[in-house]
Amino acid sequence: MSVRLHLKIPASTANLGVGFDSIGMALNKFLYLDVRINHSDRWTFQHIGPNVESLPTDESHYIYQIAQQVANKYDVTLPSLSIEMRSEIPLARGLGSSASALVGGLYIANYFGDIELSKYELLQLATEFEGHPDNVAPTIYGGLVLGYYDPETKVTDVSYIDPPKADIIITIPSNELSTTLSRNVLPETFSHKNAVRNSAISNTMISALIQQNYELAGKMMEQDGFHEPYRQHLIPEFQTIKQIAKQYKSYATVISGAGPTVLTLIAPERSGELVRELKREFTNCRSELVTVNITGVESEIVY
Ligand code: HSE
Repeated sequence: MSVRLHLKIPASTANLGVGFDSIGMALNKFLYLDVRINHSDRWTFQHIGPNVESLPTDESHYIYQIAQQVANKYDVTLPSLSIEMRSEIPLARGLGSSASALVGGLYIANYFGDIELSKYELLQLATEFEGHPDNVAPTIYGGLVLGYYDPETKVTDVSYIDPPKADIIITIPSNELSTTLSRNVLPETFSHKNAVRNSAISNTMISALIQQNYELAGKMMEQDGFHEPYRQHLIPEFQTIKQIAKQYKSYATVISGAGPTVLTLIAPERSGELVRELKREFTNCRSELVTVNITGVESEIVY
């Protein structure tokens, strides 16, 4: 009898303005993996549909690399696997595609290596690979997750707040933006004065989100000083999207993760008009309404 592991892994949007490397939210766009033992001596990947066609089909695949590292760490041997991959998450657009693939690799190693890692342990491992929890934590748990990875102890602590009761529009440019490039434009150092200022903005934003005061939360989101001032020149559409969204009384428009996707938070009664306007205005981008995923990764064993 052949066993298949089906994984449905959500996308994520990181930072939410001023929550650089620590705040993220899972989105209902998915990476689907269908995994089975192939009884040969090597792993194979089959990619179906858009967003995945440029990925390698052999053992240089990121998911293979991650799964083997986990297997080595726990001293188990994985069988050779065939993995069918479909994805609604465009690559290198600031929607957590590599975090979703990373989480896929962890779940695959956990199941086929019979390791029995808990969700908490999966999060610790995922954050150790990624270096920050803002994509992997919501991808694993769903919802809006805040977290801190301590590079010395290698422990990640997370906390949750209710996702905003507001609509979300993402505008996805057609070009990729590498996370490495987008991180390389950030400053190496940050003054104490700037740290105090941005921590105050972040604290106020979180409290406003908890109180469902989206006007105030949005005002704070748009005052981020950790990453947007350094990155916005990499996204030519950013300022215009922000201006148009303001005409529709949006709460906030921010860079999603490392970009180039732009995320807008807006009241439900105005989101339809705005998303249609953005579609008309930015024909080189894909503007769409997206909802928050609250389940995190779903896995199913099929016999
Ligand atoms: N917080 C990260 C960044 C997300 O903005 O670079 C992408 O890894």
